[in-house]
Amino acid sequence: MQKVIVTGGTGYIGSHTIVDLMQNGYEVICLDNLSRSKEYALTGIENITGKKPVFYHVNLCDKNETFRVINEHKDAIGVIHFAALKSVPESVEKPLLYYANNIDSLLNILMSVKTFNIPNFVFSSSCSVYGNADELPVTENTPVKDAESPYAHTKQIGEDIIRNYEKTNDTQSILLRYFNPIGAHPSAEIGEIPIDTPNNLVPYITQTAIGKLEQVVVFGDDYSTRDGSCIRDYIHVCDIAHAHTLALQYLAEKRNANNCEVFNLGTGNGVSVLEVIHAFEKVTGIKLNYKIGPRRAGDVVAVFADNKKAASELKWECKYFLEDAMESAWKWELKMKELGL
Ligand code: UD1
Repeated sequence: MQKVIVTGGTGYIGSHTIVDLMQNGYEVICLDNLSRSKEYALTGIENITGKKPVFYHVNLCDKNETFRVINEHKDAIGVIHFAALKSVPESVEKPLLYYANNIDSLLNILMSVKTFNIPNFVFSSSCSVYGNADELPVTENTPVKDAESPYAHTKQIGEDIIRNYEKTNDTQSILLRYFNPIGAHPSAEIGEIPIDTPNNLVPYITQTAIGKLEQVVVFGDDYSTRDGSCIRDYIHVCDIAHAHTLALQYLAEKRNANNCEVFNLGTGNGVSVLEVIHAFEKVTGIKLNYKIGPRRAGDVVAVFADNKKAASELKWECKYFLEDAMESAWKWELKMKELGL
């Protein structure tokens, strides 16, 4: 069995990726500091796959700790690095926390990858690196503009660090730029577990529908879009997860043309906030309590992906639609209530 190290493995995308890796025959070593996730994810993973991944509670901002754990698993064929803080508004409030956490952990992981000669590295990047792009859909070659938030800036810096590292090192890397991951595993065994009040749209919708929150505020309906609300590319988290398995296989089979390759992971479809709300109402039959409010600072008007590169090179395709994502997100919200999460 080939071994893969997954940092941030109890988090939202990390846990779904671990399931996908295990179902494709990999042994997974999961690292997390549990600051924004719960150990329950490991139980959910076990309920789906029949096996718990090996877990280390580790602070990746501590170089010694990081090296100690990676040293124990230096036979791994790759590291998938998810661990990072990801709230846009929180990053505006606490920029130093975001720079310190997201950059220090990346540097420690990369130094250990280099020291222990782990051949492959996959980095969680984000469509937020594009900023307010001039043209849509964005391709991997669309120029990166100014970051709209410290969070987005940490992803730009992270990409630059990996690109520069790759110029003189043998590790093979992939930067995956996620658009808006939503939904949960169809089994409702794992999903996103927001620690505080969520900032992201879909958990905000499901928490409102279940009565934890009072009302969804649509941040602006006066944008120059088809219904005035912002447009994003919402992609099912299981589709994102599977792309990591394919990315690792692509690197392991040496199909990459360059040491460092970039891929957009989006559906290619732009969907408005109001359309998301209506899709939720349609699949659940619930009338959502929402109102139109002012614009949110730092929001880009519209962004969606050109995903042709991932389709042709990784042989990746989306298997789920918006309605599937809304249905699974709702099932997961109900499950969390049952579990008291
Ligand atoms: C942003 C980043 C994304 C990153 C993610 C991490 C961009 C373009 N995208 O996503 O790369 O991975 O943060 O969290 O910067 N909305 C409401 N009401 C709400 C919540 C959201 O109307 O209560 C709207 C927002 O204005 C936005 C859309 O819903 O138009 C999606 O927002 P959200 O889920 O927070 O994600 P992004 O900000 O797009």
